[in-house]
Amino acid sequence: MWIELNDNDVSGEPTACRVCGGPVRRCLDLGRQPVSNAFLLPEQIADEAFFRLEVGICTRCTLVQQLDVVAHERMFRPDYPYRSSTSARLRRHFADVARTLHTTELTGPDDLVVEVGSNDGIMLRTLSDAGVRHLGVDPCVGAGDTAAQGGVRIRIDYFNERSAAEIRRTDGPAKVIFSANTISHIADLGSVFGGVDALLTADGVFVFEDRYLADIIAHTTFDQIYDEHVYLLAVRSVSEVAAVFGFELIDAQRLGVHGGSMRYTVARAGARPRTARVDQLIGEERALGLGDPATFAGFGARLDVIGKDLVALLTELRSAGMRVAGYGATSKSATVTNYCGIGTDLVPVIYDTTPEKQGRLTPGAHIPVESAARFTDPYPDYALLFAWNHAEEIIEREREFRDRGGRWILYVPDVHLL
Ligand code: TMP
Ligand code: ZN
Repeated sequence: MWIELNDNDVSGEPTACRVCGGPVRRCLDLGRQPVSNAFLLPEQIADEAFFRLEVGICTRCTLVQQLDVVAHERMFRPDYPYRSSTSARLRRHFADVARTLHTTELTGPDDLVVEVGSNDGIMLRTLSDAGVRHLGVDPCVGAGDTAAQGGVRIRIDYFNERSAAEIRRTDGPAKVIFSANTISHIADLGSVFGGVDALLTADGVFVFEDRYLADIIAHTTFDQIYDEHVYLLAVRSVSEVAAVFGFELIDAQRLGVHGGSMRYTVARAGARPRTARVDQLIGEERALGLGDPATFAGFGARLDVIGKDLVALLTELRSAGMRVAGYGATSKSATVTNYCGIGTDLVPVIYDTTPEKQGRLTPGAHIPVESAARFTDPYPDYALLFAWNHAEEIIEREREFRDRGGRWILYVPDVHLL
């Protein structure tokens, strides 16, 4: 049974850009999709909610955006299962981020840093240990509890004008507002920039990281498109968005994490010099056609090939009697399994290290999630790596799987065996 999200759950199909009001051209339809982190118990299947995952591009400011948006309360529930710290690479990445912020921006003895979407404290932990005044703002209680146990000061809340004004009253202004993989989740960017405006010092910076549209297009990582990723950001669109709210994009830096990300540094308009890198990257994006709806036609055609190739391979392996398992019950896997129609007949189980996901079924496809400790027991013949962004780490840790003849199946940037 499927339940359409009702009018309260989706904010409706925009005819105008959510930020600049310009015309939005629809360019990609990934069909009926579940809430990507809503891992289910069997008795919850009857109430499962779905929405239409469609993407459009604003022909004025080039902001790539979903046409329907799932309500925050459905996505970021108290039991939201995602934990950043499962990845050693991300732990290293965010410790580096913390050290860089500490040495470049948080140089005064009382400087305050606020993180939007602090999850389990993966970044703030380092600053907390260094004695830096900090606050993490995150609506998800479970992740917040983990952060607090690690010594991080947490406010369980959404970040917006209201919470930001309250924080300013109690803690004073923030020298740095940081966020990773969260700003693109928030449909109302006016509330984000309103909060930044309320909280940031006159010369402070708003630094945020997100998956980069150019990398998504280049590697056809269509599974980066799911309910939480309301926006697929690029340097040009972030620059335009910041300007709408009285801010300026002053720097942008490419990052390797999550299959290719960008770190954006935003300041109050005119408060800080803008690096040459910003215009250079905008020029590169123009050459790639990132602002052009036609670019998405090619992307759609390529993702169809990947989907068909993957289903063909899994079907062939099943016919040959091979044992196939999934690895990494990622949010991304919701898009792949539901778009391609991959269910338990093709992938009977997905192994994952996150206790909050184990013993549950994946959204929409209803594939059981089991502890990664059981991957060895016995090894499957083939393992479909949904957590391809952690490939190096996972393949290294599970090297015995390959030593014993197991093969990894990857679908980025095309379907191939390892
Ligand atoms: P992500 O792609 O959204 O970061 O999610 C990664 C998922 O993969 C998450 O559910 C945890 C899981 N995972 C493992 O099972 N083993 C690992 O070694 C790593 C790094 C992640
Ligand atoms: Zn726009």
